[in-house]
Order: sequence, then structure tokens, then C-alpha cells
Amino acid sequence: SPALRVTEWSDVVDWWPQLGPASEKYNRGVVGLATGSATYPGAAVLSVAGALAGPTGMIRYAGGARAEVLHHHPSVIATGRVADAGRVQAWVCGAGLGTGKEAAAELRAVLAAPVPVVLDADALTLLVDGKMADRLRDRDAPIVVTPHDREYTRLCGETPGADRAAATLRLAAWMNAVVLLKGDRTVIGTPDGRAYVNPTGTAALATGGTGDVLAGLLGSLLAAGLPADRAATAAAYLHGLAGREAARTGPVTAPDVATALRPVLARLP
Ligand code: APR
Ligand code: MG
Repeated sequence: SPALRVTEWSDVVDWWPQLGPASEKYNRGVVGLATGSATYPGAAVLSVAGALAGPTGMIRYAGGARAEVLHHHPSVIATGRVADAGRVQAWVCGAGLGTGKEAAAELRAVLAAPVPVVLDADALTLLVDGKMADRLRDRDAPIVVTPHDREYTRLCGETPGADRAAATLRLAAWMNAVVLLKGDRTVIGTPDGRAYVNPTGTAALATGGTGDVLAGLLGSLLAAGLPADRAATAAAYLHGLAGREAARTGPVTAPDVATALRPVLARLP
């Protein structure tokens, strides 16, 4: 089994982008989200909420739930298609997107952009359906995939098994991507064989939609310029803390996790 590093608060502090007099909404990074659909508008709203909590200065939403996203998040620029979204520094693709032809076209548009991408949920299904998972090896910009166990099993054709770090590293090497395998103790693996375990998780996060919040936050960190391994590690760490923070006042829903990211991030120096 590989050496596992446990993420620490001081790692996140070291990596976090500082605001300063030169900060400007564009140079803080722009994140694009191709998430949600008429059928699943909630995934769009939640992924955008996660991205808004992060360090980027601008959000571009390019999915099929514009009205709902704008209703909940009026600061977002919403276009219907990835091709119309303009320049972003990272894309988040998948949650609630659907798995039909249009969704596949949007995924291809995201992958064609020369920027880091987060692939989650339906984007992972589309990769499997299109037999694309191992054809992204030569993409120049980083890919982060964020499967839960069933998504991992579909991608790999086998379950993660007991050694979750080894499982994560197998997929990371095969796809040449950073893999964030979600669960009780989320594990992050890199293509060059480093593995990180997240100590902040809580079963309070085991409720629908919290994964969408995580994907949005992760996209924001990528767009802000964090390398893919750090972005994934920091996002899992902060998401876990937000789950704990939200659980202090009662049963947790996914919007609560997005809201709780604010007091958690306020503890950063
Ligand atoms: N302990 C700690 N963390 C947990 C636990 C646990 N017992 N269970 C879940 N989590 C965390 C995971 O680490 C992850 O961050 O909660 C989050 C859940 O994310 P997902 O599994 O992606 O679930 P989500 O997408 O939010 O909601 C379910 O996934 O299978 C699809 O279509 C399904 O829409 C549904 C959605
Ligand atoms: Mg999910």
C-alpha cells in the first residue's frame, strides 16, 4: 500500500490565494460550470454555490438551469452553452447535466478548452458511455475526476476494494488524472503516485447534493491557480469542515454545507 499523507489545516493556509490591492475580479480567476439541466436544476444551484464560496472573482454558468441559478445567485453570468461562456480558467462539468447527446456535446466542449477541468457525476457516465476515459491521457491541461464508489466502479470496471488509496492511484495512473475518491475518508491520488487522505469528513455529508457543492468549490480553487492535487486536497478538507460546521446547528442539507463554507473560510489567516 502506498504512503498516505494526511491533509492538514496548515497546508490549506499555505496554498490559499491571498487577496491584495492588485486583486481584480478577473485576475482572481473565472470558473465555468457546465452542470444542471431542466430536469436537475438543483445540481446547478449547488455547484454554483460551492464555486461562489471559493476564492475566484467571477462565475460563468453554462448549463440548462439558467433561471434557477440566477434566482439563487444573481452575481453569476449565465449563458446556455459552453461555447458561449467566454474565457474561464477552469471548468466544472457533470452534476445533473444529463447523459444525452446535448450533454455529451457540452462535455466535449469543456474538454476542448485548454484549462483544468473537474469531471463529476454525469460527466463520468458520459466518459464511460463514450469509451473516452482512457483517451484523455494526452490532454495538456489537468483533469480532476471526483467519483463516489459506484462512479469509480463504472469507470474502472471493478470496485475500489478495501485499499482505497491503491484504488485511487490505479485510476489516476490509468486516466492520467487526479482522482478524488469520495467517502468516509476521501482519498486523493495523483498520476505520479502520491496519495492524500482527508481527515475532516463527517457522515453529516451523506446527503444528496453535497458532492455538487464540492465540485464547485474544487473548480474555484483550480481557476484561482492552485495545482490540481492541491485544489482537490484543499477542497475535500474545507468541504469536510463545512459539513461539521453545518451539523452544529442541526440536520445538514447540501445548501447548508455551501453556506457553512463561509465561516470555515473566515478562519483562514
Ligand atoms: N462520511 C464522510 N463523508 C461522506 C460520507 C460519510 N459517511 N458519505 C458521503 N460523504 C461525502 C462524500 O465524501 C462526498 O463529499 O458526501 C459527499 C457526497 O457526494 P456524492 O456521493 O457525489 O453525492 P451527491 O452527488 O451529493 O448526491 C447524490 O449522486 O449518485 C448520484 O444521482 C445520484 O444525484 C445523486 C447524487
Ligand atoms: Mg455526486
